[in-house]
Amino acid sequence: MKKLFGVMGDPIAHSMSPAMHNDLFSLYDIDAVYLPFHVMQGDLETAVKGLKAIGASGFNVTIPHKTEIMSFLDKIDPLAEAIGAVNTVKNENGHLIGYNTDGPGFVKGLESVIADLESRSALIIGAGGAARAIYFSLAQAGIHSIDLYNRTQLKAEELISSCPYKVQSKLLDRETAERDLAAYQLIIQTTSIGMFPDIDSTPLSMANINCDALVSDIIYNPSQTKLLKEASGKGAMIQNGIEMFVFQGALAFEKWTGIFPDTNRMRANVLRHLGG
Ligand code: ATR
Repeated sequence: MKKLFGVMGDPIAHSMSPAMHNDLFSLYDIDAVYLPFHVMQGDLETAVKGLKAIGASGFNVTIPHKTEIMSFLDKIDPLAEAIGAVNTVKNENGHLIGYNTDGPGFVKGLESVIADLESRSALIIGAGGAARAIYFSLAQAGIHSIDLYNRTQLKAEELISSCPYKVQSKLLDRETAERDLAAYQLIIQTTSIGMFPDIDSTPLSMANINCDALVSDIIYNPSQTKLLKEASGKGAMIQNGIEMFVFQGALAFEKWTGIFPDTNRMRANVLRHLGG
């Protein structure tokens, strides 16, 4: 029987996940379909129960449901529990298991371009949900250190103190982060600053960046934020948010099928959707 997968969110019409996963099902000759489900706040429990009742094999969860979904699952992976967000659900013999592949996907995207993650000192800009998933996943992966800069210091302090994985960490104010930027081999931008239409904004000056650094921005519209342009202009290597999106999808696909898919093909598919 054809297997059913999908993604629940609001809004959902422009999600690139259906095209990406359906292409993989056909590539690996898997009899399955992946659909977008428009589920509004307040309807999540009914939607989850419905998918469980009809025997859906798995699904992704996106904004605004990543935290609320946790109350409706049978089991939650420890990393997802610590992060406090689930984006991937697998139906194992009628039991819904929740995972977070956003943070691990981000780490996998980094590992596809750098070999020595363990020796790197990272600076994360931001302390929201995305920063939390990335921070906890990098800490779990054994990175050397992660410093944090956020507009609201209290949120950054809370993030650092709630991480269950041991990692060296300190909180920076904007002035210190900009002055000491050369100390970081990895800089990760997780806020919405610089996202379309706010394309002339940047959360931090890249003037003092080390040209050997890798700068990753989780934004993919525009494909190069002002921060990435500045970093690239200084000779640093850059990565945009397509990597995180592709690799979170690849890890979800692997959970559902046991196959780690062709991420180059997934990236090409996403770029086609974004119009180049
Ligand atoms: P997400 O789940 O996408 O990470 P979020 O949890 O709302 O979104 O977090 C947004 C992040 O972007 C936070 O770090 C936020 O900073 P504050 O903690 O100070 O609110 C940051 N952010 C958003 N807009 C910002 C702005 N105009 N200036 C500085 N930081 C901003």
